[in-house]
Amino acid sequence: MAHRRTFSARFPDMRNVSLDSPPLTPIPNIAGLPIMSSRKPRAYWLRTTFLALFVLVVVSVYVLLVSPPVLRPISFRDADRARPDDPARPSRWTPEAFRLAALKHRKPNATGGSSATNDQPQIALNQTQELAAVSSFIASLPQNMIPSSIDPSIPIDPQLVLDFDTRGPHAEEELQAVIRDVWSRNPVMLYSKVHSPVSREIKQVLADLYLRPAPTIVDVDQRPDENVLVPLLFRLTSANELPILLVGGRTVGTAQEIKYLAAKGQLHRLITEAGGVVDGARKKKAKKL
Ligand SMILES: *[C@@H]1O[C@H](CO)[C@@H](O)[C@H](O)[C@H]1NC(C)=O
Ligand SMILES: *[C@@H]1O[C@H](CO)[C@@H](O)[C@H](O)[C@H]1NC(C)=O
Repeated sequence: MAHRRTFSARFPDMRNVSLDSPPLTPIPNIAGLPIMSSRKPRAYWLRTTFLALFVLVVVSVYVLLVSPPVLRPISFRDADRARPDDPARPSRWTPEAFRLAALKHRKPNATGGSSATNDQPQIALNQTQELAAVSSFIASLPQNMIPSSIDPSIPIDPQLVLDFDTRGPHAEEELQAVIRDVWSRNPVMLYSKVHSPVSREIKQVLADLYLRPAPTIVDVDQRPDENVLVPLLFRLTSANELPILLVGGRTVGTAQEIKYLAAKGQLHRLITEAGGVVDGARKKKAKKL
């Protein structure tokens, strides 16, 4: 008894820990707490797991069946080879791609092609209109080139130089708008050459007029499309050499005639009628100085 007492007296903590505490506290603690606390989370966890599985299944089904581009082609090509005479199979995967490719190829056709397979008839241009369309095309962007494949001796395909639907129901109105626009923006337009003394003379004649807007000068010999553009311009203007001066869309004769008209002050009048302002640029400069 004395021993026991002393033992327990000597190690009061030890007794508590080794005999009382372990059986009483840890068991309910270890077993009870987790059960109590995991009852709700377990249901929650199950629900979450099922949800995740469901999402996984849906995504897998989508990837495998609905969205085939990456995974399908191989398997379906094999299937196609196996059944080449089944018309429905091969067109499963390809028609979309083919339709897109066809659309892509049809677009440049509509704007720049040369066939007349559409139902709507192509708009027809007479020479005045053709000159305006070509000039508008060339003046609007420096990189606009007449394709070398055209035959300059016959009317140009309007699709090549007009950026609207030339078979559309409003083609005629749009053409009129283009014609008004090109000659109001470029009342004085000169097709010339860099390497030509006559061209330089005419450029000087224009420079002396201090025009506003400034004359639109196209140096044909600097362009890659020179070989088709020159004969095209000759056909459309009845000129047979450069430079060709257009005032309000009208050809102003030979270089000789241009100089003559300039000397008589008649070029001045023509340009004013076309909407150009003679000395317009000089006045501006004088004001600035
Ligand atoms: C497009 O152009 C090609 C040749 O360039 C021609 O064979 C085809 O018929 C054209 N398609 C349309 C819709 O104009
Ligand atoms: C071309 O057509 C327009 C309008 O239809 C007309 O004003 C012009 O005189 C015609 N030009 C030629 C060369 O026939």
